[in-house]
Amino acid sequence: MKALDIKARIPYRLHIGQNLLMCDELLQLCHKMRRHIVIITDEIVAQYWGNTLLKHLNAHLPRVSLLSFPAGETHKTRETKAFLEDRLFELGCGRDTCMVALGGGVVLDMAGFLAATYCRGVPVIYLPTTLLAMVDASLGGKTGVNTPFGKNLIGTISSPHSVWIDVSTLKTLPESEWRNGFAEMVKHALLRDESLFHALCDFKYEINEPLCDKIATNLAVKKEIVEQDETELGLREVLNLGHTIGHAIERIENYGISHGEAVAMGLLVESYISVRLGLLQESDLSCLMSLLKKFGFLLKTTAFEPISRFMAVLTLDKKSRAKVPRFVLLERIGCPYQKNGSYAHPVDEQILLEALKWAEVNLK
Ligand SMILES: NC(=O)c1ccc[n+]([C@@H]2O[C@H](COP(=O)([O-])OP(=O)(O)OC[C@H]3O[C@@H](n4cnc5c(N)ncnc54)[C@H](O)[C@@H]3O)[C@@H](O)[C@H]2O)c1
Ligand SMILES: [Zn+2]
Repeated sequence: MKALDIKARIPYRLHIGQNLLMCDELLQLCHKMRRHIVIITDEIVAQYWGNTLLKHLNAHLPRVSLLSFPAGETHKTRETKAFLEDRLFELGCGRDTCMVALGGGVVLDMAGFLAATYCRGVPVIYLPTTLLAMVDASLGGKTGVNTPFGKNLIGTISSPHSVWIDVSTLKTLPESEWRNGFAEMVKHALLRDESLFHALCDFKYEINEPLCDKIATNLAVKKEIVEQDETELGLREVLNLGHTIGHAIERIENYGISHGEAVAMGLLVESYISVRLGLLQESDLSCLMSLLKKFGFLLKTTAFEPISRFMAVLTLDKKSRAKVPRFVLLERIGCPYQKNGSYAHPVDEQILLEALKWAEVNLK
């Protein structure tokens, strides 16, 4: 088992390995807590992993319960949070509760927020079960829910007690979900680690030690970034690489496209802009395109047509200033472009239009 210690206002440790869900260390930890353990999960993960975990913990601990809610982003709401809070009260859960969040990013964000406010705060242990949650959502302390006014608008920044990344749970994860995590791994490599970028060329949807290594390297990238900027004042902006364009694609497609697909195309368009500005090499852009194609990204959208609509949606991005969108750009693979202390830059309108035309032709 590998471990990674995160420095935060309240520090925590991430553990990475195979078969961790049933390991003695996790059981001992739950035992030592001397609390009512409540597994929070979604209905799909409950079927695959939650019920087995419940049985296992129940065989060894006095008080264990499981609460589930319907799977999917549309259930990451204030209503679901209130529903779970009411069930917790019915179970008689008080301050001596410890939550165990078992699932993808939706479950982690929901359970993290729930734990941060339930009885003014109880501990939560994260057990991520999607690649995306393993390499992204389990680190950084962001929790929260969506509202009709936008995504992740209500929430906290708070540390989990600890994170246990059991890659064996990926056995049941559909390939399309693996790709969502893979897109974020590519993003991390582009930002900080050229050797990881090349190592990703041999990535396989297989559960083994090399997978644990790649997840650990990825987390090390995110760790370095969030530790320097826990409250998102500067450097953390770089994590938006590929997301300015990606979010606009998602909005125009009415979220009918997966986040990974949208981010993959965002990485390409934003890399194209970097090439046009004389920063990134053209060969790096081709290399990125082949990597994404190799892993089954379709790289197709009708969102760029018409370009005027795309431009209008871009101005709604949360990084925009005075309606001018800002982009994270790459100086080279492994290094984001920094100017005047900032990592998000406005781009000349002509170059932006040219990039969107390139996207219209190459991503359809
Ligand atoms: N807090 C953060 O820093 C952070 C970072 C990135 C993303 N997020 C959030 O994460 C969410 C997306 O997370 P996600 O991509 O994991 O989506 P998700 O949690 O919706 O999971 C995707 C699907 O996979 C299913 N699933 C989960 N684990 C499974 C398994 N092992 N086997 C089979 N099916 C499984 C789920 O039931 C769901 O249907 C978004 O809400 C996003 O805002 C948060
Ligand atoms: Zn993302």
